[in-house]
Amino acid sequence: MTKVDDAAVESEVVQAPLGLPSNADMAATFKNVADHSQHIYLWNYERSRAQLVTLYNRASVSQWSSERDLDWSTEVDPEVHVNMGGPAMSLYREASKIPGSPISTWGDKEFIALGIELQKASLSQFMHGEQGAMMTAAKIVETVPWIDARYYAATQTMDEARHTEVFARYLHEKLGEAYPMSPFLEEQILVLLEDSRWDIAYLGMQVIIESLALAAFGDMHRNTQEPLLKKLLRYVMSDEARHVAFGILSLSELYANLSEPELKDRQEFLLENTIRNRTRATTPEVWERLGVNPGALMPFLIEASGKLKTPVNRQFMSGFFSKLVPNVRKLGLLDSNNGYLREKWGEAGLLEWEFADDTSTDYAEYDEVAKDREAAAAAAS
Ligand SMILES: [Fe+2]
Ligand SMILES: [Fe+2]
Repeated sequence: MTKVDDAAVESEVVQAPLGLPSNADMAATFKNVADHSQHIYLWNYERSRAQLVTLYNRASVSQWSSERDLDWSTEVDPEVHVNMGGPAMSLYREASKIPGSPISTWGDKEFIALGIELQKASLSQFMHGEQGAMMTAAKIVETVPWIDARYYAATQTMDEARHTEVFARYLHEKLGEAYPMSPFLEEQILVLLEDSRWDIAYLGMQVIIESLALAAFGDMHRNTQEPLLKKLLRYVMSDEARHVAFGILSLSELYANLSEPELKDRQEFLLENTIRNRTRATTPEVWERLGVNPGALMPFLIEASGKLKTPVNRQFMSGFFSKLVPNVRKLGLLDSNNGYLREKWGEAGLLEWEFADDTSTDYAEYDEVAKDREAAAAAAS
């Protein structure tokens, strides 16, 4: 058989019997990920980690359903609910006042359109990030050597599936076309999915990205009055608080037994990923969708940000670090290797958050699903 014949047979096999998409279509809808970790089968079923058992039990009863618990018939008019306040919008308004700015002719109509696109862009990254969280949690199920952690990670996989689903549905039904995943977020998650060490999936997802996500969800929750989105975010956040707790509980045990060189590796990982997080990705696609050349706008944004007193993402970064830094301290990673990370983070000004929050143990207080159920039961009795 010639090569041409091979190709003909191949394309017949792919397209005819199963009706699968073409190779080109698949390239646009799939991303291959090469995981270098060891997947293991465990024979020890003994429930020896009491705190993880408690967390798993809590996760099992606090599952919610997008269909039953959220009212998708809610009418959403994005123009009514768009957030026109906030530091980012002030920056763009400031940039529009500078002579020669590509947005100098903009009025309320254009800024409202911008506000809607920015919200779509954020929700799109939430959606893609949640799918990454689902894959990372599934990886933990397959790689972690403790049965109690496996059980818990399986509940988290379900949580993240629900989160992906609700953000995708909200975008699709209420706002319109989603944005692609930002290369910055994609790179952050792929690193975790490909790493051979099982704890790196935990450290990157449960400790760094979950803290980042809690800050971003909190920001949006504070700034929206749209009831469906508000409730959806409340429920997602209560799940995320448990996920952070899961990370801290598991990693505390592991890191107490690692050598200083092994801990140094983890400190380096944190350093690299948090400094990268300080410069958040810009959103060029948003500007392109609105017909503005992002490159031409950039110098005006820089000039405008120089005129404003507070940095645009100060509140967001504060939300992020106030969760991240105390949890890293609890893992012992600030102080191992003679305080290597304490020194580096100190220089970057991150230690002001060292004692800020306690998301690792007070997850029960964040359980909004349980609170709503108790209130409903009390109202019915
Ligand atoms: Fe999530
Ligand atoms: Fe999560």
